Amino acid sequence: MSQQPSNNKETTTVANRYEAHQGLLQDKIILVTGAGDGIGKAAALTFARHGATVILLGRTTEKLEAVYDIIEANGWPQAAIYPMNLEGAAIHDYETMAATIEKEFGQLHGLLHNAGLLGKLGPLSQYDPDMWQRIMQVNVNAEFMMTQALLPIMRESGPASILFTTSNVGHEGRANWGAYAVSKFATEGLMQTLADEEDGISEVRVNCINPGRVRTAMRASAYPGEDPMTLKAPEEIMAAYLYLMGDDSQKVNGQTVDAQ
Ligand SMILES: NC(=O)c1ccc[n+]([C@@H]2O[C@H](COP(=O)([O-])OP(=O)(O)OC[C@H]3O[C@@H](n4cnc5c(N)ncnc54)[C@H](OP(=O)(O)O)[C@@H]3O)[C@@H](O)[C@H]2O)c1
Repeated sequence: MSQQPSNNKETTTVANRYEAHQGLLQDKIILVTGAGDGIGKAAALTFARHGATVILLGRTTEKLEAVYDIIEANGWPQAAIYPMNLEGAAIHDYETMAATIEKEFGQLHGLLHNAGLLGKLGPLSQYDPDMWQRIMQVNVNAEFMMTQALLPIMRESGPASILFTTSNVGHEGRANWGAYAVSKFATEGLMQTLADEEDGISEVRVNCINPGRVRTAMRASAYPGEDPMTLKAPEEIMAAYLYLMGDDSQKVNGQTVDAQ
């Protein structure tokens, strides 16, 4: 690509029009969290279809196995399964994860932080503090600890991409979205802080993706009355995921990109 997009809007335009070639992610090792369902599942399959070896992380092993089987049946690079409940994981679990990836693969080129917890919607005045803690643990603390543990191997892997997942309620506060909204503001802050720190000292780029309204279990639980067929399927928003994971976005850092 001759000219790199330099702001969120330009990058969003380029990302949404992106047409990846089949071997875009060949020889790349990419970890996807929440890979068993929804957008994470679609991203894992899309990355594998474009040549990546995907590490499938999630809390429901059967779902991860089903994704693994699809990858195998298609003859794409053999995936790996890493069952983990982000709610209970502590720093030593992430250190073990980093050591395992180092031993098994020696490199890590991509990290898609996609797993997320919505919780119950409702006003902050009545918000359950335990729910608040759980959502912050999965949506923010786990991302921080995992990123910190995996950063050394990613810095050693040549061009690498860390992609966080945000939401419309992560840029502008909205009533009743509680800890979920606050966690997405925090995710954007985490992304911007890390992107600035890595700028110029490593080949790790750090960005956010905002999926928009997508037909998944999480969306259905937030909008139970909505006709899901009016929404895009996860597979339909993958252009931006491919752009941000592949080397064509090498110079894109610190940006928030809308996938729709
Ligand atoms: N769908 C939308 O319209 C939309 C819009 C904006 C942003 N997003 C964001 O996009 C991302 C994916 O959402 P989605 O709609 O695909 O949701 P989803 O279908 O509910 O999938 C969420 C994934 O996260 C995993 N997960 C949840 N808690 C976990 C934990 N404690 N440990 C490990 N994995 C855990 C789930 O695993 P299990 O399947 O095993 O439960 C599942 O695979 C989220 O970050 C969400 O906030 C979605």
